[in-house]
Amino acid sequence: MPENTPRALNFGAGPSPLPLSVLMKAQTSLLNYEGTGMSVMELSHRSKPFMQLMTHLKSTMRELLEIPNTHDILLMQGGGTGQFSAVALNLLAARAPRRQAYYAVTGSWSKKAAEEAKALGVEVVEAVNGAKELGGYTGIPPAGAWRLPENGGKAEEEVAYAYYCGNETIHGVEYSMPETLSNLNSFLPVSVPLVADLSSNILTRKIDWTRHAVVYAGAQKNIGISGVTVVVVRRDLLDTATPEHIPLVLDWRVCAQADSLYNTPPRRWGGLRGLDQRAAEKSSLLYRTMDESDGYYRCPVDPGARSRMNVVFRLANEDLETKFLEESVKTGFVQLKGHRSAGGIRASLYNAVELSAVEALAKFMREFQAGHPL
Ligand SMILES: Cc1ncc(COP(=O)(O)O)c(C=O)c1O
Repeated sequence: MPENTPRALNFGAGPSPLPLSVLMKAQTSLLNYEGTGMSVMELSHRSKPFMQLMTHLKSTMRELLEIPNTHDILLMQGGGTGQFSAVALNLLAARAPRRQAYYAVTGSWSKKAAEEAKALGVEVVEAVNGAKELGGYTGIPPAGAWRLPENGGKAEEEVAYAYYCGNETIHGVEYSMPETLSNLNSFLPVSVPLVADLSSNILTRKIDWTRHAVVYAGAQKNIGISGVTVVVVRRDLLDTATPEHIPLVLDWRVCAQADSLYNTPPRRWGGLRGLDQRAAEKSSLLYRTMDESDGYYRCPVDPGARSRMNVVFRLANEDLETKFLEESVKTGFVQLKGHRSAGGIRASLYNAVELSAVEALAKFMREFQAGHPL
């Protein structure tokens, strides 16, 4: 890459861009991490500097996410996809003999998670299905459409857990807490562990730890880069002795007992303070640009469930979308193409995406509209 190439304005859905300051720090410490004379990639995971790094990472995570001592923080491998399986295996074991789980299907990721659970022997009940209720994954279905086990009922004795995905990265559908999430909260008995896949919106808003038993997220969007999966698990779910064997790399108890160092961990992560307000500011700028475009840009998602992380929109036709993407690349924007299963445009606004990049995109959208009238 020529030295004077400007930094790309990267709106990719993951891996996300990284702050320049983090990249520069990684560059300088590559040959000599903290006076060790080697890079962090070469350090033994049993060495003091590496253990200190792990402790620092976990305590930062605990502080940023305000995680109480009732919950343990595990650093695992296998990404969000690994946790689709881990959730099913660990919770079937911890909550035996219960075999049912309620999945709120609001987009491709919760659908995949439900399918994996089913394949692993969970009796999956769809608490709600956005595609069936709304004709597509365009929002969070209203309270009346939800089916959850009743408080104190027999179902509760049979339900191992309930599951939702906080932000559907492909469809741009996000639970707007606390209003919409209250559908889950008010109907679900407190004794049923609630699991959240927050892969694409962790570290962007507070989490109610009195309600969430398990929260997980791959690091590659809002925390750092790929390779590490953060799994926060309520400790009572780690205490259970069960005869069922869970593959070692997916077993939360094995990971917790070894302080996340059961086997050689990946050496790639960063950290970033994410702010709810900043996420709202960035995304509302794009939604406002669409709303003020007289229908030139159309967001398919219900206003109440529009994602702050993955802003999806359509233009009048696919030819115009192709032109939009071509011109966006010439202007310096990259990875604005929507997911192949959904089409259209998708701008991902994770924590490291600067407001100035979003302002530039909004400006580009206005100029494109002016230059290509319908
Ligand atoms: C919400 C969500 N869950 C799960 C995954 C799967 O994560 P991974 O690619 O880390 O397996 C993704 C990936 O983009 C995602 O966006």
